[in-house]
Amino acid sequence: MSERDVAVLVGSLRKDSLNRKLAHALAELAPPELKLSFVEFGDLPLYNQDLDQNPPEAWRAFRNRVKAADAVLFVTPEYNRSVPGGLKNALDVGSRPYGQSAWNGKPGAVISASPGSIGGFGANHHLRQMLTYLNVPTMPQPEAYVGGADKLFDESSKLVNDSTRKFLQSFMQAFAGWIAMYNDAKMRA
Ligand SMILES: Cc1cc2nc3c(=O)[nH]c(=O)nc-3n(C[C@H](O)[C@H](O)[C@H](O)COP(=O)(O)O)c2cc1C
Repeated sequence: MSERDVAVLVGSLRKDSLNRKLAHALAELAPPELKLSFVEFGDLPLYNQDLDQNPPEAWRAFRNRVKAADAVLFVTPEYNRSVPGGLKNALDVGSRPYGQSAWNGKPGAVISASPGSIGGFGANHHLRQMLTYLNVPTMPQPEAYVGGADKLFDESSKLVNDSTRKFLQSFMQAFAGWIAMYNDAKMRA
């Protein structure tokens, strides 16, 4: 099976982020054909349409990195029942200039995590709404809302919950299948 470059976007910018720990666990549990690499967006200037004619270098580099990826994986917390502003900005920056969106047609998956019990459901679905518009065919199942995320890692950030590990492994396996299915369909089209 051919190797797939999966761009990982972690919605949280903080150093000790639970979502970043989760993303590292996903990278370890992914099947070998998926190569996950983190794409950072915390330093992207805020999207401003006035800059489209002469975009900041950070926007160009971010767009090019996303364009080069075979797939995109979003791992995000929920802020006020939606996605954190930094992630929204990254989606906006990647989506322009009009007609040249870096997201277009990249198979994607979403996983959200929170110390709370509903696991970032609101952020997960706000993100899915945006991804529909951006033409990111997003894996419908398994849905992944990781609740109680503050209990899942030890002091060295290692995942310590076996049932979560199994679930994350099956999630990544399903994502590999989703990417393969999408690419097969594209080849046949
Ligand atoms: C601005 C802000 C808004 C938040 N809103 C929510 C929320 O709507 N739902 C929720 O479950 N947790 C919310 N939280 C708590 C986060 O889930 C928690 O801080 C989590 O650890 C953030 O993810 P991270 O560990 O990856 O940084 C919020 C936290 C912040 C800082």
